[in-house]
Parts: sequence; structure tokens; C-alpha cells
Amino acid sequence: MSASPVWHPFTQHGLETPIPLVTRGEGATLWTDDGRRIVDGISSWWVTTHGHNHPRIVRAIAEQAAKLDQIIFAGWTHEPAEMLARALVELMPRPLDHVFFSDSGSTSVEVALKMALGYWIGRGEPRHRIVVMEHSYHGDTVGTMSVGARGVFNQSYAPLLFDVDRIPFPAEGREQATLARLEALCRESTPAALIVEPLILGAGGMLIYPAWVLAEMRRICTHHGVLLIADEVMTGWGRTGTLLACEQAQVVPDVLCLSKGLTGGAIPLAVTIATPEIFAAHYSTDRARMLYHSSSYTANPIACAAANANLAIWREEPVAERIISLAQRQDEHLQMLRSVPGVTGARRIGTIVALEVEARDEGYLAAIGPRLLAAFTARDLLLRPLGNTVYVMPPYCIDDADLARLHDGIAQAVGELAS
Ligand SMILES: Cc1ncc(COP(=O)(O)O)c(C=O)c1O
Repeated sequence: MSASPVWHPFTQHGLETPIPLVTRGEGATLWTDDGRRIVDGISSWWVTTHGHNHPRIVRAIAEQAAKLDQIIFAGWTHEPAEMLARALVELMPRPLDHVFFSDSGSTSVEVALKMALGYWIGRGEPRHRIVVMEHSYHGDTVGTMSVGARGVFNQSYAPLLFDVDRIPFPAEGREQATLARLEALCRESTPAALIVEPLILGAGGMLIYPAWVLAEMRRICTHHGVLLIADEVMTGWGRTGTLLACEQAQVVPDVLCLSKGLTGGAIPLAVTIATPEIFAAHYSTDRARMLYHSSSYTANPIACAAANANLAIWREEPVAERIISLAQRQDEHLQMLRSVPGVTGARRIGTIVALEVEARDEGYLAAIGPRLLAAFTARDLLLRPLGNTVYVMPPYCIDDADLARLHDGIAQAVGELAS
């Protein structure tokens, strides 16, 4: 048993795997207490966009902390939140113009689901069924597990999860089956909303599908008056090459969830952004019809200040160029990975590269997963395979040498371990 009282997330303490102690971060680099320099190949769970400890975000946090640390957000407001909401509305596609704050990707999705149900109640025609995509992941709260894939992540809690309708993942050549199922569900079970991760399913295995399928799903939802919720918690802030993945399909959702890179990855914050119709459905003189959601730290001023600094970085630094450059460099490494024996399905979207390692078993609990993880950690690489799926999703500031270290490390580890 470890001497530490800390109970870590997604960690089986019974395996007694050593847990490195990280003391400092800068750019794409982390340092441990024993002096190791680690390359962050997954942006510390997909959050860090411009690099760790970006000076402008660090300064904004320090300055705001000295002015106003926290204030209840029900019935009160503050400038960092007002400024951020205005800037987000400016940046996001029309007509997304009402910004609801929360503090994690999961809560942004919970709020989106509540908004969708509230919308239908406000219209006087209650609907409560949600359509979801096979292999999706939307978080670990009970509501978000309900709309996610059922499996090892949540099987212990299955009795608590609510029932949803599922459409198959639009794998290559099977896109029409997805669209036909969506069409049928929209016609037959009058759902409140479809929730999707646009263009790439993250925790479900970095599964990529084409923009035209997203556009078609939007068309079907619009045709049947079903709301479209885009969970851009992972894909938002440039990961797929554009600010939002939805842009590549020229799709505007009715509800948009953002978190992770909203503060550049420095501090927790999330937003759920909705159209005027959804806001209007909750707008009333009747207090029973308000959106019943909050958490103590809703729109925390320090987090909002960090997000404002992040938006300033997007406006004033060559972020788009960095993303294009990273995508190109990722592509070059992808060619190399394709030639590594034991690697299959190597793919890329924007700044994200993913592949499968040939193994006896597949899925999140694939036996090769912990062995790959150990091989990466031994090479001072922060990479965290999803079973036999390995992916690289670094901060946009990563330099050539560190990116090469990640990919060479993957090639070496696969060479050692692939069956
Ligand atoms: C698409 C998506 N939605 C929601 C979440 C949940 O976000 P959080 O872990 O901040 O609650 C994640 C987390 O990885 C995600 O990838």
C-alpha cells in the first residue's frame, strides 16, 4: 500500500505502479522531483493548448487573485465573466449567444442536457429522450455516463444510468447506416436532442469520422426539430485544426460545450453556449422555469481571467500558424509510424495522431496498455494509451525535437512490445 493518502482518478492503486511527482511545467515540458524532464504528449489530458505556465495566463491569474478571488454567481456578476461571455459570443458562430458557466467538461454536458429538456418543457411539449453515438464519451457524472458508451468505465453504475437511443459510429463505408438510424429515431421517438463529439470521438478510441456526416446529422436534426448538442470539450480550441471541429462541417449546433482549452488548460472552467430560442424557453416571470443548475465556483473570477488571457493569446499570437505547423509535423511522423511493424490504423485529424498497436486483446483493458504506458514513462514521455490505442495530442508550442522524441518513443515501444 502506498504511503500517500491520495486516491487518483482512473488509477488502480492495487497494481502499485509508481506515480511520478511533478513539480514544474513550461511549454511542452514537465519536471519531476527527481529531476526528470518529461515531454507532455497528451497536453495533460487534452487541456494544455499554448503550453504549461504560459506567462500571460499566469500573470492574469495572479492579478485577478489579488483583486477578487471568488463571488457567488447566482444574482451577482463580475467583470472577468462579463468580458469573457462577450468575447465568446463574438468568437462563436451565430446564433450561439447565451453563455452558461460551469467548471468541467462533464458539468458543461450536464447543463447542455438540462437545457435541452428545459427547452422542450418551455415549449409546452416535453421530450426527454437523448440520442447518442456509439463509443461516445461525455464525462463521468451519472448524466454524462448515461449518454456515453456503456462499458468498463461505467458498468458498476449501470443501474443508475438513464436509457438513451444510440446511433452506430459512422465508420468508413457505414456512414449511411448511422444517418438512416438517426432519421428513424427522429421520426419515431421524437427525441429532445442528439449529442455528439464532432469529427473525433476521444476516450472512445480516437475514432475519426468525416465532416460531411456531421453536416448530414445537423440536417436531419433540423428537419425533425431535434436539438443538436456539440460536445467540443476535447475538440474545441484548435485540436482538429480549426477553432471548433464543427466549423469543418459548417455546422452550428443549438448547444455547444467547451472546457479544457478554455483557460489554455491552466485552471478549471467550462461553458455551455446556447441559441436565443433555448434561452427564451427558460425566460419567464415564473421562477419554477429557471435553469436549475449551479455549482459553488460557477464562473470563478480567477478562472475567467485565465480564459480572457487565453482569448487574448488567440487574438494576438500566431496560434493558427502554430496549429498548422504542428499538424504538418504530425503528418510527417505519421508516415514514419505507418511503416512500424505492429502499428495499424495510423490516422490524423488536425493536431491529433492516433494508432492501434497489434495485440492479442483490444479495448480499454487490453493487456498491452499498461506495458506501453510503462515503456513510455521509462522514456520520460507523458503518453497515456487507451488500451491498445496510442495517440499524440501535444501542446501547440512543442518543438521539433520533443515531437520527434514522442514518435520515436512510440516506435521503439511498439517494436519491443507488439506481439
Ligand atoms: C468529449 C468530452 N466530453 C466531456 C469530457 C469530460 O470533461 P471533464 O473531464 O473536464 O469533466 C471529456 C473529457 O475528456 C471529453 O473528452
